[in-house]
Amino acid sequence: MATLDLTFDGVLAAAEIVARELPATPLQAHPLLDRALGRPVLVKHENVLPTGAFKVRGGVHLAARLSDAERAHGLVTCSTGNHAQSLAYGARLAGVRATIVMPASAPGAKRDAVRALGADVVLAGASLGEAGEHARALAAETGASFVCPTDERIVLGHATAYLELFGQAPDLGTIFVPVGSGTGAAGACLVRDALAPGCRVVGVQSAAAPAGWRSWRAGSIETAPATTRAAGLATTTGYPRTQAILRDRLDDFVLVDDDAIDAAARLLATCAHTLAEGAGAAALAGAAAAGGGPAVTGPVAVICTGANASTDEIARLAGSVAAA
Ligand SMILES: Cc1ncc(COP(=O)(O)O)c(C=O)c1O
Repeated sequence: MATLDLTFDGVLAAAEIVARELPATPLQAHPLLDRALGRPVLVKHENVLPTGAFKVRGGVHLAARLSDAERAHGLVTCSTGNHAQSLAYGARLAGVRATIVMPASAPGAKRDAVRALGADVVLAGASLGEAGEHARALAAETGASFVCPTDERIVLGHATAYLELFGQAPDLGTIFVPVGSGTGAAGACLVRDALAPGCRVVGVQSAAAPAGWRSWRAGSIETAPATTRAAGLATTTGYPRTQAILRDRLDDFVLVDDDAIDAAARLLATCAHTLAEGAGAAALAGAAAAGGGPAVTGPVAVICTGANASTDEIARLAGSVAAA
């Protein structure tokens, strides 16, 4: 496959493909949530997509742009869950074989969901980094193509969420975007620059997995341990392709702790009729931490990127809701 450029035109082309398969997701106001936060905050509900996460956009776009070799020999990747389901979804659309290497810690529900989409699951390694090494070795051994979680086709697919968002609300002043590998935030920057240059894009990462944040601040690729409970944010390194975009274009990058992410997930459950996994609630945690401070200007939106809460997360949320 010829490399696709990460440009706004690339996002427009991806959107045509993605829209053939996926409905636009709603951007909703939730008055109870606004009251709890002390300011209006719109929620972009990516949690309603098939697979329950924004990442499916990447898999659908990738599926339409596979090379002959990828079609013939299949795909292999590594993931803690939502990229896995996305790739499995895309592979099924394209009628291509997919193998997903997941770290042993990946939630059982996510493994089951991947298998239900028809992909093979291999459990290997204690971290996403170790699973990645195994996935590359497996690709070399079997002839399948390794799909990097920050593959250009995937970044462009994810960016389509922000094309929708700025179409739905052209006058946004600040958007909060969760960061793991940085594909969503990079996509947000690509689209914001073209459609809403006055809007601030703020990345949000768990303080218990700050590799992306450290990389952005240092201007170089940095690593950090990932002990966060939010599986979708549990990356241990900055990713060069997305950091190259975020470096100059992301307006701000904040860290929130895992308890703040839980509190945000509880708010989404009680004030916005929404089950969110930790990574899906992180943007709201960032907006809540920023409050009415000077970093936040104009109408605010947060991206609820995923609903695939593990049974542990659901139990923890239910406990804290009951205690509230
Ligand atoms: C629900 C959810 N939100 C956010 C993220 C972070 O996205 P990215 O890795 O593109 O930064 C992920 C990553 O898997 C995720 O699953």
